[in-house]
Amino acid sequence: MNDFHSLPADFTWGVATAAYQIEGAVAEDGRSPSIWDTFSHTPGRIDNNDNGDVACDHYHRRSEDIELMKQLGVDAYRFSVAWPRVVPGGDGPVNDKGLAFYDELVDDLLEAGITPFPTLYHWDLPQVLQDRGGWPARETAEHFAAYAAVVAERLGDRVKDWTTLNEPLCSSWIGHLEGRMAPGLTDITAAVRTSYHLHLGHGLATQAIRAAVPGARVGIVNNITTCEPATERAEDVAAAVRADGHTNRWWLDPIHGRGYPQDMVDLYGVDLPTRSGDLDTIAAPLDWLGVNYYFRNVVTDDPTGPLPQAKQVYLPGARHTAMDWEVNADGLENILLRLTEDYGPEMIYVTENGSAYPDVVRADHSVDDPERSQYLDEHLAACVRATRRGVPLAGYFAWSLLDNFEWAYGYEKRFGLVHVDYPTQRRTIKTSGHHYADIVRSARRRGRRAA
Ligand code: FCB
Repeated sequence: MNDFHSLPADFTWGVATAAYQIEGAVAEDGRSPSIWDTFSHTPGRIDNNDNGDVACDHYHRRSEDIELMKQLGVDAYRFSVAWPRVVPGGDGPVNDKGLAFYDELVDDLLEAGITPFPTLYHWDLPQVLQDRGGWPARETAEHFAAYAAVVAERLGDRVKDWTTLNEPLCSSWIGHLEGRMAPGLTDITAAVRTSYHLHLGHGLATQAIRAAVPGARVGIVNNITTCEPATERAEDVAAAVRADGHTNRWWLDPIHGRGYPQDMVDLYGVDLPTRSGDLDTIAAPLDWLGVNYYFRNVVTDDPTGPLPQAKQVYLPGARHTAMDWEVNADGLENILLRLTEDYGPEMIYVTENGSAYPDVVRADHSVDDPERSQYLDEHLAACVRATRRGVPLAGYFAWSLLDNFEWAYGYEKRFGLVHVDYPTQRRTIKTSGHHYADIVRSARRRGRRAA
């Protein structure tokens, strides 16, 4: 096992999930459909035509799932709040039953000694707002801030750690340019406008949270990664700069007051819908940055390929997960260092990291998944190395507590530390879950000694 001595004594050990991936109960207690309900019910969009109608039925099994977190011994739980439960009309009246679910979840977590870490937007835009223009429309950013204020006012007496957005890159590039996620568009203008309005929504929501919650610690979660050229050819080096702009700088520069990178604005060829004051709003000071890391990106020039004309390739000898994502823990260390050097955040959390493997369930329901444990060990070792090199890393959230609805991949891809048997909803902690519990326990013992 790793030596966690260089992690801060109050390091946060957590697990993460997202509303649409686990909750189910899509038509209950006044929830309205989100763009993911629409997308997943469109034939051919999701592997096996799966959808999130039932998912892990977490909406009804909250207590059992908190019990699992207790068994894992985690300090914190990163979950997302479903906008269509809380404000089913997208803007306007609040649905008290929907909000009550999160209110009670927070109480139950606190009673279990687990810190709630809510994310306000993990991709489930109310479909009614999509019908009114979605994220390409500026009003969506304003409605998002209003919804954020509602949640912050209700939970803010108990919740201090707030995330505005999860991976705006995926909403923008995968949802509006590549079309592989909801709402399934392939339009660079819509994609760029989406990214801009997500950032604006993030800035406005940050203000709203701070106004409602004294002492709030607000952050944003980006899925950034290292973008390396596959060779030293000038074309590949230039492709890696484009990939870096597309994956990293576009998402980090504006929120740090540097505006949108000009090389990428030129490449996209889309006018930004900027109004006076927006860039300051977008750059609202943050308490921490969240990093979701799964794989590194090695690229070659792809002049006729899709934006950013940089093709991901695998170098010989690369190991892969069931997602076909390369296992490369050095990439996590590198991106943590890069964030620290280039953007100087006060604190960083690894808000997601984990792996899918083809788990085998034994007759006694147990799942022995040494590859997932190894993935954890390697990436936690990268966190330790980064910390030694000066990265202000405050915590790590394993993705995911449960096997769940893995977006366009449906239920086939399993990331859980806990196995879910979907027909019976039976939960079983995998070997990797027990391994994570051991890590948390031993790191905490060490933290207590140091304190
Ligand atoms: C991230 C998402 C998360 C999960 C993991 C595997 O991009 O934030 O919901 O699907 O990937």
